[in-house]
Amino acid sequence: MSDAKQMFSDGAAYEKRMGRWSRAVAEQFLDWLAVPKGLRWLDVGCGNGASTEVLIARCAPAAVSGVDPSEGQLSYARTRPGTRTADFRVGDAQALPFPDNSFDAAAMALAISFIPDPVKAAMEMKRVVRPGGWIATYMWDLPGGGIPIAPVYLALKSLGVAVAMPGVEVSRSDSMRTVWEKAGLQSIDTRVIRIPVVYAGFDEFWDSFRVPEGPSGAAIRKMSPAELEQLKARVREQLPTAAADGSISYEAFANAVKGRVPS
Ligand SMILES: C[S@@+](CC[C@H](N)C(=O)[O-])C[C@H]1O[C@@H](n2cnc3c(N)ncnc32)[C@H](O)[C@@H]1O
Repeated sequence: MSDAKQMFSDGAAYEKRMGRWSRAVAEQFLDWLAVPKGLRWLDVGCGNGASTEVLIARCAPAAVSGVDPSEGQLSYARTRPGTRTADFRVGDAQALPFPDNSFDAAAMALAISFIPDPVKAAMEMKRVVRPGGWIATYMWDLPGGGIPIAPVYLALKSLGVAVAMPGVEVSRSDSMRTVWEKAGLQSIDTRVIRIPVVYAGFDEFWDSFRVPEGPSGAAIRKMSPAELEQLKARVREQLPTAAADGSISYEAFANAVKGRVPS
């Protein structure tokens, strides 16, 4: 199994951990793209379909395809009521299984950090999108602590537990712009997307993030019950002070880049 498949193998677990935050960032991203409705769309690294569902609801695509290497994620994507019109297939962003000029727009949602060669992926998206079409991506700002699970990362680090998060640097805004420039895209623009992250209380937070999915999930999977209890205590320390009603809130933020295929 590849690293990506080991990290993302269970669509339901991903939904519990990240689904609502994926949807929140996707909504703002699509508003920023501001492309016409009725396009032929490709969702690269679509995972369990969280981003695809928002895309269909917001952009009313004429057709939408989703590609991801993880069958465990895709099988969940196929069960969503909001993605019945989508064609989901196993594939790699660096070798997209489509002919040239198959789409009007392609987005890669929260996936660029998991792609070994991001420029190759951007060039593949450029190949399958028609001249004049739109190509965009976004990723939690990993060096800046923008990922919703950042408190868990900090707690793991304080315990000396290594998390194999691959493409940290490419999630920076200037790195994403460079990838888009290297791929030969035009009219490049970037922005930061900020979303509020709110939990009813610590138990809801812990219940959501102790699910062994994603890079920190791979680390959590190897921990004993005693180590997990230790992690839980450290996570509690890392979180912002709860409000009077017990709720915990903070901000997550992602960097986004968009560009056009030269006409
Ligand atoms: C954090 S999830 C994002 C899923 C979804 N797009 C979302 O917005 O929630 C990252 C996804 O990238 C996928 N991925 C990893 N390597 C990939 C590759 N080489 N090509 C395409 N997708 C890949 C993973 O399987 C995983 O589903």
